[in-house]
Amino acid sequence: MTNDTPKLAADLWRLHEAEETVSAIRSGAVDAFVVQEPEGERVYALATADLPYSVLVETMQQGAAMLDRNGEIIYCNASLAALVGQTRESLIGVPLKVLVADQLAFQKLLQEAELQSCEGEMQLLQADGMVPAKFSCRSLSSDKSTVGVLITDLTTQKQEADIVARLQQVQDGERRRLARELHDSVGQLLASIAMNIARVRAESDKLSPEVAELVIQNGSMVNEITNEIRTISHLLHPPLLDEMGLPLALRWYIDGFMERSKIRATVEVPDGFDRLPPDTEIAVFRAVQECLANVHRHSGSSSCSVKLVRDGQELQLQVEDSGSGIPKEKLANVMSSGGVGLRGMRERVRRLGGTLAIASNEQGTTVTIKLPIQPAKSASRDRAAQNEEVA
Ligand SMILES: Nc1ncnc2c1ncn2[C@@H]1O[C@H](COP(=O)(O)OP(=O)(O)O)[C@@H](O)[C@H]1O
Ligand SMILES: [Mg+2]
Repeated sequence: MTNDTPKLAADLWRLHEAEETVSAIRSGAVDAFVVQEPEGERVYALATADLPYSVLVETMQQGAAMLDRNGEIIYCNASLAALVGQTRESLIGVPLKVLVADQLAFQKLLQEAELQSCEGEMQLLQADGMVPAKFSCRSLSSDKSTVGVLITDLTTQKQEADIVARLQQVQDGERRRLARELHDSVGQLLASIAMNIARVRAESDKLSPEVAELVIQNGSMVNEITNEIRTISHLLHPPLLDEMGLPLALRWYIDGFMERSKIRATVEVPDGFDRLPPDTEIAVFRAVQECLANVHRHSGSSSCSVKLVRDGQELQLQVEDSGSGIPKEKLANVMSSGGVGLRGMRERVRRLGGTLAIASNEQGTTVTIKLPIQPAKSASRDRAAQNEEVA
């Protein structure tokens, strides 16, 4: 018992010290401590300035990796390991390029990262397939020996874009079908009624004056309905677009828009504008429709302009208004994805390899769309193919 007393006192002292240390760590008074380990002293940092960032990187959903100058992984977070279906330990020392389908493209991206931050879309390999991913790279050290890579799984984004694109195709087809149906069946029936009315009118002397007047009224109502049906059918799918091309179809649409909305609109199309592939023509036409509908519904502008410029192998469409601009609280969302209208437009443009940009402030809004264009020869071939498809 007496022999144990000094040992007990020492243990109690150590326990007290440990308790002091723990409470100092808890209160933030200690940010590192040294531990004697078999291979020597080791410093454990508790809360350096980097700690919030490490926690962020460790827990974020995006994959993150740090590469050495050979492109080998020296750090990767749990999300990246989960994304490629491997353990974090097994990825250390592995060149990141072996996880990418196009190794050459990835190598190029890493080289560019030495000069500036850069990003690219590539397929990330998994054990049983691959996923589309965005790789954002930047150099993390001044001697360019470490590169940070953020990897975003684009599967859901691509699926959404595909659904939007598919919806648009279905909608385009359905509009075209409805336009024809209205024109061919309802339009023909109305034409027959108009002819019958004309025959009755020719013999109106056999009718009482009141009834003869009703026949006249019916005649003008049928004319009105015929015009309405034609306008609806043409708005659903302008026949001028297929037959005469964009410039005429746009002028026709904009004339109607001015009449309906009482907004002044100008249209500028260069002379000798060649036919374009049907997908491109319909994309531009629908974009103008959507932009002008937005000008009418949201901008409060009394005028707007539509400009089409063809510059080499690129087509540029610009729709500008001088209205109130997109509300500030909506701007971020509109810029990244947009409402149904702008989003659909953006997806359609993206599918054709183009870009859509929106500039908006209290002085007005400008939507600029750029589309690559194919030579006219393949445009007419495409059109023939599409007409066959529809027929
Ligand atoms: N020309 C414009 N002027 C002012 N606001 C606009 C304009 N175009 C779009 N917006 C704003 O951006 C939003 C998104 O537009 P859009 O994607 O076409 O969807 P929707 O027209 O169905 O609301 C609109 O609700 C509107 O607030
Ligand atoms: Mg809209």
